[in-house]
Amino acid sequence: MFFEKLSKMLNDVFRPSPKYITVSVAQAAAGPAQALPPSRLPRHVAIIMDGNGRWAQNRGMPRSAGHAAGTEALRDIIRASDDWGIEALSLYAFSTENWARSKEEINALMGLLLKYFNSEIDELDEKNVRITILGDVNGLPDAQREAVCRAMERTKDNTGLKLNIALNYGGRAELTRAAKLLAEKVKAGEIQPEDITEDLFGQQLYTADSPDVDLLIRTSGEMRTSNFLPWQLVYAEMVFDSINWPDFDRARYLQCLRIYADRDRRFGGVDEARPEKKTEDNADD
Ligand code: IPE
Ligand code: IPE
Ligand code: MG
Repeated sequence: MFFEKLSKMLNDVFRPSPKYITVSVAQAAAGPAQALPPSRLPRHVAIIMDGNGRWAQNRGMPRSAGHAAGTEALRDIIRASDDWGIEALSLYAFSTENWARSKEEINALMGLLLKYFNSEIDELDEKNVRITILGDVNGLPDAQREAVCRAMERTKDNTGLKLNIALNYGGRAELTRAAKLLAEKVKAGEIQPEDITEDLFGQQLYTADSPDVDLLIRTSGEMRTSNFLPWQLVYAEMVFDSINWPDFDRARYLQCLRIYADRDRRFGGVDEARPEKKTEDNADD
């Protein structure tokens, strides 16, 4: 048991960097301008902030301590996105499935949410950040719903970073809601079924104002999307980092951006820009 715990802790500290790309502290501070061409910066980054519970358990702490530590990483990553000129950042904070957790954990998460909004809103507004909640705010407790709605209202005309926070969010619920909204429009005679296009469908989603996701990052080593942005992720590049969310920082973030910048996005076409790039299969040809 002791050795298992010790090995987990060591693993946590000495995890290898994703792939072979490493970023120096100076590069992380300078941001992507130094590290990658501006044309290869993603417009929309989505992050599944996972591993708070394991981070805490590895340290013999309660899961709620992991969530509290996670909010520190959150502050840093939002600021980095703003500093680096990312257009939209979508963060998975609480899923429709997360209600299955213990009352104690849900209360801790909801408490942190309130604390976070109250302490950050002035600075985010000052930085011209526009906050949008993805998900059904009506399913949140009163105080949390009021705080997030106030934040959305207060920042709705801001033109800087589009900060989308997924709260009580489920991808299938979002798609079902979009289908219902369109059905209502047909029923009211505003549109005909044949008017429904991918574009019009996309406009019914919580993310209507953001472009499709370019880069999805998930921490904690899990390689699944867990009901996050199924429509918006169809052509996203995915980067899975083994580190737990509270340990994710600017340097790690920049590494993910560099991995993204090194990917060939073909969207079903043929990569004519870099035909010389070889796959592992034909590298020795
Ligand atoms: C992510 O961390 C935060 C939320 C889901 C709210 P977890 O709480 O899922 O942490 P693990 O996956 O159990 O380690
Ligand atoms: C996804 O993480 C939800 C958030 C990060 C908010 P989970 O920890 O809930 O996902 P699963 O259960 O491992 O798929
Ligand atoms: Mg998890």
